[in-house]
Amino acid sequence: MDALEAIRRRRSVRRYTDRPVDDADVDELLRLALLAPTGGMAQAWSILVVREPERRAALAELIIRGGAEYFRLVRPAAAGTSPEEHAEWARGYARQALGTYPDVPVWIVGLLVPRDVFPPDRRAMERDADMVSVGFMIENLMVAARAKGLGTVPTVFQWFVEDEFRALLGLPPEVEVPLVTPLGYPEEFPQGLPPALAAIRRPWRTLVHDETWGAPRADA
Ligand SMILES: Cc1cc2nc3c(=O)[nH]c(=O)nc-3n(C[C@H](O)[C@H](O)[C@H](O)COP(=O)(O)O)c2cc1C
Repeated sequence: MDALEAIRRRRSVRRYTDRPVDDADVDELLRLALLAPTGGMAQAWSILVVREPERRAALAELIIRGGAEYFRLVRPAAAGTSPEEHAEWARGYARQALGTYPDVPVWIVGLLVPRDVFPPDRRAMERDADMVSVGFMIENLMVAARAKGLGTVPTVFQWFVEDEFRALLGLPPEVEVPLVTPLGYPEEFPQGLPPALAAIRRPWRTLVHDETWGAPRADA
């Protein structure tokens, strides 16, 4: 599969089999990920690979718990339900939607490792560049994984269980965890977006401006 097709066919995968992933494939994906552009060649990043069964089970459990907190916060409560009932719904939903995560053989943790190159009053700017670079790195990995038939999904559920997540991986305080992804063989690749998301995908022309802001791309 070439790069264009891999970009077109990459989808967020949330259901996985327990089929192992070859170490050689993981290594190749890591090296491709680290070919991404990095602001100022700062390489303000690292990738933490979790494969050890007990650690990845603990990691999956934390991601599911973080997901439950995310769903509790962003999904509207059904009419007439109490906060406790809504939280219970969110826990059940996360457990069902992410229920194969304990089977995933490899977890990739994308880390931002500050290099403190910019002057102190410009560190926020440096952090933005580093964050974007980590995103490019994970995108490289996700597209390359798709070309190999492997599934991924950019995940931020760890933000909701941050202290435990950091403790599990022994992260020092200055290291951030912008993105995590499972890496495994999907039950199947989603062919398109779920209907609810497809319905809100904006037509690409509405997201393009020609020359100056407010000049949307006209129909050809
Ligand atoms: C910055 C970012 C954070 C995301 N966080 C999550 C997440 O925590 N959990 C999840 O299941 N999907 C997450 N996603 C995946 C998006 O929901 C997904 O990319 C979007 O719905 C479009 O679907 P697609 O990736 O199949 O094109 C995230 C995506 C991005 C770019």
